[in-house]
Amino acid sequence: MMGWGSALCCIIALSLVHVSLGAKARHFNWEVEYMYRSPDCLEHIVMGINGQFPGPTIRAKAGDTLVIELSNKLHTEGVVIHWHGIRQLGTPWADGTASISQCAINPGETFKYRFKVDRRGTYFYHGHYGMQRSAGLYGSLIVDVADGEKEPFHYDGELNLLLSDWWHKGVHEQEVGLSSNPFRWIGEPQSVLINGRGQYNCSMAAKFSNPPIGQCKFRGNEQCAPQILKVQPNKTYRLRIASTTALASLNLAIQGHKMVVVEADGNHVQPFAMNDLDIYSGESYSVLLTTDQNPSRNYWISIGVRAREPKTPQALTILNYSPTSASRIPMSQPPVTPPWNDYNHSKAFTKSIYALMGSPKPPKTSNRRIVLLNTQNRVNGFIKWSINNVSLVLPSTPYLGSLKFGLNNSFDQKSPPDNYDSSYDIMKPAVNQNSTQGSGIYTIGLNTTVDVILQNANTLAKDVSEIHPWHLHGHDFWVLGYGESKFKEGDEKTFNLKNPPLRNTAVIFPYGWTALRFVADNPGVWAFHCHIEPHLHMGMGVVFAQGVHRVGQIPREALACGLTGNKHN
Ligand code: C2O
Ligand code: CU
Repeated sequence: MMGWGSALCCIIALSLVHVSLGAKARHFNWEVEYMYRSPDCLEHIVMGINGQFPGPTIRAKAGDTLVIELSNKLHTEGVVIHWHGIRQLGTPWADGTASISQCAINPGETFKYRFKVDRRGTYFYHGHYGMQRSAGLYGSLIVDVADGEKEPFHYDGELNLLLSDWWHKGVHEQEVGLSSNPFRWIGEPQSVLINGRGQYNCSMAAKFSNPPIGQCKFRGNEQCAPQILKVQPNKTYRLRIASTTALASLNLAIQGHKMVVVEADGNHVQPFAMNDLDIYSGESYSVLLTTDQNPSRNYWISIGVRAREPKTPQALTILNYSPTSASRIPMSQPPVTPPWNDYNHSKAFTKSIYALMGSPKPPKTSNRRIVLLNTQNRVNGFIKWSINNVSLVLPSTPYLGSLKFGLNNSFDQKSPPDNYDSSYDIMKPAVNQNSTQGSGIYTIGLNTTVDVILQNANTLAKDVSEIHPWHLHGHDFWVLGYGESKFKEGDEKTFNLKNPPLRNTAVIFPYGWTALRFVADNPGVWAFHCHIEPHLHMGMGVVFAQGVHRVGQIPREALACGLTGNKHN
């Protein structure tokens, strides 16, 4: 017994040493600026990094420390970058959320993000100030296993797809429209982009013939040429897919090929095979693709819009088997996206995701339940989204500094409620459509196990309830279950406590609820919000603070604004 014990301990010790020896700091100097670009072949301005759009892909190994010196070269706007899916254990000031974890970086200034990527996975980064994500401020962040570690699946090669949506209307105009009365909705995106490339108003055949034919404006325009996926026959590829869309829920299919889902939001899942995959804003997946089809032809990859009446054409590209020419058009029509309102299809997919055997299990019980009713309301005539009748407005002083230094007058001291009026009818527009705005936060005791029930409801329009992908900063949560209509006492008996998936983003379906559980074990102040950019802009989020007294030394430049500006120099 002793022998085994000590042998085991040595193996563990050795592997720890090994990991720390392999880990390193990776430095990046980034400049954010507006630039001309043609994401879908029409020229507009986008927010780029070091002249690139999307921003540079970060590739690191688990255990590495990333150091990103971000210089704001915008002339008149602040900027921050959030590292979506990275939990920022011990570095809550590096989360990159304006007004929450830090002050927006002023034009001409530089901020140093320094944090550890502690776990392998497919992640991305994006602006988190105003609607800068919609302006194109995003890129991929991929963390490989540490040296000497292995993924629990095998693959020969890797392909990376970062999905986004694109409007021809500029972001400032979108923001103003959303905050105006009468309200002006941004409409559906003109294009879906794959790695920042789409082709507006361009026929299928025209896209891929060589030389390009017809009206396609991308003739000779490398910026919007389709991202072709080149593969060798009879290999297995890991396809990393992340969605940073502002609005669109997407569905991806590859003609003639099944995809085996193995990772979701940086966590391993029980592998399962699909013909098509739904992906909501804020989510990421890895799927395995085996190139076992006839190699003398190519295959369509299609990405279409779901959950909203699609007015956006499918994004198309091709899976190009070597040595077949990339300009050979696949013989049959591209896969068709399931009907936008086929929610059963979406639910079937979402509910087939389980944690890989051996993954961490949730605590059996929780200490606190927070039920969050999602409604669309008005505040003084302006359309807003509210959570338990509070529409979030962010304060000018970041919460993290306010809480750390006890600055009580920088935000609403009253916490929003843990529940909503049980007589509220979620099937109808709100009877009293007036809501309130506020900057109050939920204070959660350190190490509390929290259940969050996200409760969907009807919008201001009759018979409409929308999908919302909710994303939590600083943690993963277990998705314990989904249900129809109102969550009621006793529904917790249906929770999956055996193998619920760990994720950082989970969707609520129309008129339904979704139950999450997380342990508040990461001192800091964390946003939890709908990942649809216009919805967040309209107040659809809450803020969780936990154990801020345990937060270490906050870098001074994170707090050089608002009330903390004087406090902290
Ligand atoms: Cu990817 Cu708070 O967002
Ligand atoms: Cu939403």
